[in-house]
Amino acid sequence: MSQPRIPVIAIDGPTASGKGTVAQRVAQQLGWHYLDSGALYRLTALSALRSNTQLSDQERIAALAATLPCSFSGAAVRLSDLDVTEAIRAEEVGNAASKIAVLPAVRQALVGLQLSFRRAPGLVADGRDMGTVIFPDASLKIFLTASVEARAQRRYKQLIDKGFSASITDLSRDLEERDARDAQRAAAPLRPAEGAFVLDTSGMSADQAVAQVLRWHAQISA
Ligand code: C5P
Repeated sequence: MSQPRIPVIAIDGPTASGKGTVAQRVAQQLGWHYLDSGALYRLTALSALRSNTQLSDQERIAALAATLPCSFSGAAVRLSDLDVTEAIRAEEVGNAASKIAVLPAVRQALVGLQLSFRRAPGLVADGRDMGTVIFPDASLKIFLTASVEARAQRRYKQLIDKGFSASITDLSRDLEERDARDAQRAAAPLRPAEGAFVLDTSGMSADQAVAQVLRWHAQISA
């Protein structure tokens, strides 16, 4: 008899759509594991930036991705023995992450690491291709969106709260550029998975979005 698969809730969507917050809270409520797949792309980008590797050098960046010396404990992220929790959130690193994410060999190099997060009793995974590529058999697939204005406001607040400087105009432009790159790339472009529930969080609080995801989860588990 085949083993039942460990359940996965896949939450995909554009930059700053709120998927990180929603996915983390859903995982917490269910007592499941959490995968922030964007952090893996950000860690790879940070490694490339720190080693002065050209962001178009697919071979070297894929090698960095395949041997990422990263570890996660709670909200803290480490690269080798350095705490990079804050460093990977900088806009420069996010933009670099979206540039290296177009490289198929880099995406391939991160597949095994992402799959290793699937542990009992379940996983909530957020990213761009969780439902389409990494966990196509996810029990629930969600596509979270929000208007560019709502997302730029959220990102602005996050950055200011963390002590980074920011401008709404620059952030909106960066978000649009990053959305275009994520949606138009040939490898694993950002799009809703087949059968995904689409949730527009523009006028919604994080609590409301979490409650909706949990309702869908309860419906499909019933
Ligand atoms: O989600 P986050 O903004 O942290 O991701 C950073 C970048 O990594 C995204 O702009 C996207 O290009 C890339 N990414 C991806 N696939 C994922 C997660 C992130 O291509 N599953």
